[in-house]
Amino acid sequence: MQIFYYFAPMKIQRILMVCLGNICRSPMAEGIMRNVAHEEELEIEVDSAGTGGWHVGEPPDERAVRKMQQKGLDISMLRARQFHVSDFEKFDLIFAMDVHNYNDIIRMARNAEEKNKVQMILNKRKPGSNESVPDPYYGGMDGFEHVYQLLKEACYIIAGELK
Ligand code: 4NP
Repeated sequence: MQIFYYFAPMKIQRILMVCLGNICRSPMAEGIMRNVAHEEELEIEVDSAGTGGWHVGEPPDERAVRKMQQKGLDISMLRARQFHVSDFEKFDLIFAMDVHNYNDIIRMARNAEEKNKVQMILNKRKPGSNESVPDPYYGGMDGFEHVYQLLKEACYIIAGELK
C-alpha cells in the first residue's frame, strides 16, 4: 500500500495598513504590527499605504516617528506610497484606519473577494463598532499617543487571531 502525505505549506499572511496620507496612522500601524509579530513569533508580511498621493516618497510625520521612538520602535526608514488596485492581489488582509479610507478602498475593489479583504482596524477591538482611528495630523502629541494605544490593542488582537 502506498501512502501519500500532503503537506499544506504554511501560508504567510500579508497585511496592509491603510490611512489617508501614509505618514501618520498607517506607518505607525505597520511598525506596531511588525513588532507584535516579532514578539509573538508570527511569520507575516506587513506594509502600509495611503489612499491619497500628496506625501508619496516622504518619511512618516516627525511626530509619528518621535512617538514610536518613545515606544522603542523605529519607523523613520518607511516611505509613503499610494494604495493601488494591485494591492488587492498582493495582500490577504487590508486594514483601513477610518471610514473614509474604508469607503475609498471598497470603491476600488473589483469583486466580493477583494471587498472581503478590507476591514476597519478598530473593529478588532470593538467588533461592529466601525470606529475610526482619529486623524492626529492637525493635533498635538497626545493624539499620537492615543493612536498608538488604539493600534497596539488592535494589533495584539490581530496577532492572536493569526496564531
Ligand atoms: P494620516 O494623516 O492619514 O494618518 O497619514 C494625514 C496626513 C496628511 C494629511 C492628512 C492626514 N494631509 O492632508 O496632508
